[in-house]
Amino acid sequence: LSAGTEPRASMSRDLDSVEVFDGICFPGYLHSPESLQAACAFQFQDTDVLLATFPKSGTTWMQQILSLIFCEGDLRPIHHCPSWARMPWLEHISFQGFLAQMDPARPRLLTTHLQARALAPALKKSNARVVYVARHPKDVLVSFYHFHRMASFLPDPSSFQDFVDKFLEGKGFYNSWFDHVKEWLSLLQDLNMLFVTYEELHQEPRRALRKLSEFLGRPLGVQEEDLILGHSSFSFMRQSRAANYSLVPREIMDPARSPFLRKGVVGDWQEHFTPEQNEKFNAVYQAKMSDCSVCLPWSMD
Ligand code: A3P
Repeated sequence: LSAGTEPRASMSRDLDSVEVFDGICFPGYLHSPESLQAACAFQFQDTDVLLATFPKSGTTWMQQILSLIFCEGDLRPIHHCPSWARMPWLEHISFQGFLAQMDPARPRLLTTHLQARALAPALKKSNARVVYVARHPKDVLVSFYHFHRMASFLPDPSSFQDFVDKFLEGKGFYNSWFDHVKEWLSLLQDLNMLFVTYEELHQEPRRALRKLSEFLGRPLGVQEEDLILGHSSFSFMRQSRAANYSLVPREIMDPARSPFLRKGVVGDWQEHFTPEQNEKFNAVYQAKMSDCSVCLPWSMD
């Protein structure tokens, strides 16, 4: 088990640097102007599967599920290859290295946090499958807040209040959750795309898995389903070094400040938000999401 090239490729990069691309801030530790441009010009193949998410929406969880659906019974990569090497981020500086190691005979499993507008032109040239995962934005905010505390390539939040304000303004790293979700969902009809929520994975995992396997054209037997559900559970992933980010050096991600797989629950925002923060969030949510093309399943209460 090794960390792959991700932390090593980034070793010489400054943890505090910021890469601004199309008006959006990305951690300079993981991105360069070249890596971001290359992502936008990527040539997708019809057999590719692209997982798109706003950070903290269940990316690692879906990476685990997709790797398992495509592993054809060989669990070695699940145990021995870190999730970021199994399903690398298109826009990261380490991407080309991981791409070169992929088996050309198998579907390529890829990940992105980029906005839809950056990738739509390239995606429309192929029939590549896109899985878009979204999570209740209040839980995304809480998870992102704790991630900022543990990841050295993101600024330490001065306070939870400050973090709420920045999230609602859409001015933090990766920009606006609202725009990310709206932009991707506006492409549901134009791309070969499936929309899955973190909450449905949580509440009805077998049903969500069947929905995925049908979309991906990979029928699963009940035993395979059981194996996938077991190896993508929170308890399994939390102790798996290939999924819990413990291979990343502590000076880059420090689990003593907050574990990467922190709580893995629905509704943790209720433990964090004050009534005032909640009211403000609801007002912004209503204003920003009223023109969303898809009816979203979350209740803001
Ligand atoms: P919390 O911080 O709320 O615990 P991402 O991978 O997009 O960065 O998202 C990380 C979030 O997904 C974390 O949320 C993490 O605990 C949660 N997560 C990862 N694997 C999970 C699983 N198998 N079941 C439930 N939640 C999971």
